[in-house]
Amino acid sequence: MPEERTPAEHGPPPAHGVRALGVADIPALLALAREAIPDTMAARLGPRFAERYHRALLDEPDLHLDGYFDGEELLGFIVYTHDVREALRSAFRRHALTFASALLLSLLHPARLAFVLRIAGSILGRLPEPGMAVRAELLTIAVRQQARGAGMLRRARGINVPRALIERAFTYLRARGVAEAKVFCKPDAVDPAANGFVRKEGFELRGQVVRWGIVTNLYVKSLADPATPITTGGATA
Ligand SMILES: CC(C)(COP(=O)(O)OP(=O)(O)OC[C@H]1O[C@@H](n2cnc3c(N)ncnc32)[C@H](O)[C@@H]1OP(=O)(O)O)[C@@H](O)C(=O)NCCC(=O)NCCS
Repeated sequence: MPEERTPAEHGPPPAHGVRALGVADIPALLALAREAIPDTMAARLGPRFAERYHRALLDEPDLHLDGYFDGEELLGFIVYTHDVREALRSAFRRHALTFASALLLSLLHPARLAFVLRIAGSILGRLPEPGMAVRAELLTIAVRQQARGAGMLRRARGINVPRALIERAFTYLRARGVAEAKVFCKPDAVDPAANGFVRKEGFELRGQVVRWGIVTNLYVKSLADPATPITTGGATA
């Protein structure tokens, strides 16, 4: 149930809020991903793979998948971790069959195969990659059209779905002692809205990099909170 819900004795629970996603939420998560981020590799490898891939992510303790629900409806989700390489490495190893099937599915498409091999080499082979000094990452954030800035929900009910999702991720990361988090975005010319969003949320552009063969913008945000000095190093600059 959404976290914002209060015990029955405090009156009727609010109908919306963020909570951790579970296996039962995968169909809603995939439907939202198809709508908001249809061009991811998991989506391109087909619905079966996407389903198994998200099960594997949910099964990895250091990968967090949270959803924003309005009643039963999933309006947005976010995926984050305090250490992306180690979390993906662990997920790849624990779900080797799922990730091996990605390799098989991509055999017919050389561009996809190259991409899958690059990820495998980087994660499993610990090859260097841009931005790796910052270990915490927001891997995905996606929000349904009607819940975005220009959509009805924010205007009519004041519900800011991406902000709630990102705040939940930052709260978790700060609690883990993470000093900086990164996010990769398509270049401005390809996706000005996503770049506008991450800049608005306080991420600074570190540069344009090629990651896993794809040209992408690397953004980093300091999570330092002046009121709560960070003492442990979840990430380094
Ligand atoms: C990214 C996403 C979660 C942001 O949600 P959102 O509700 O649109 O975000 P917001 O409205 O709070 O903020 C978007 C900001 O980008 C800016 N923006 C939007 N379109 C823009 C454009 N074409 N050019 C420049 N800036 C733009 C807006 O000005 C807005 O800031 P404002 O509130 O000051 O106006 C949502 O658009 C989404 O799900 N997109 C598809 C998935 C995706 O791209 N994920 C991000 C990967 S990095």
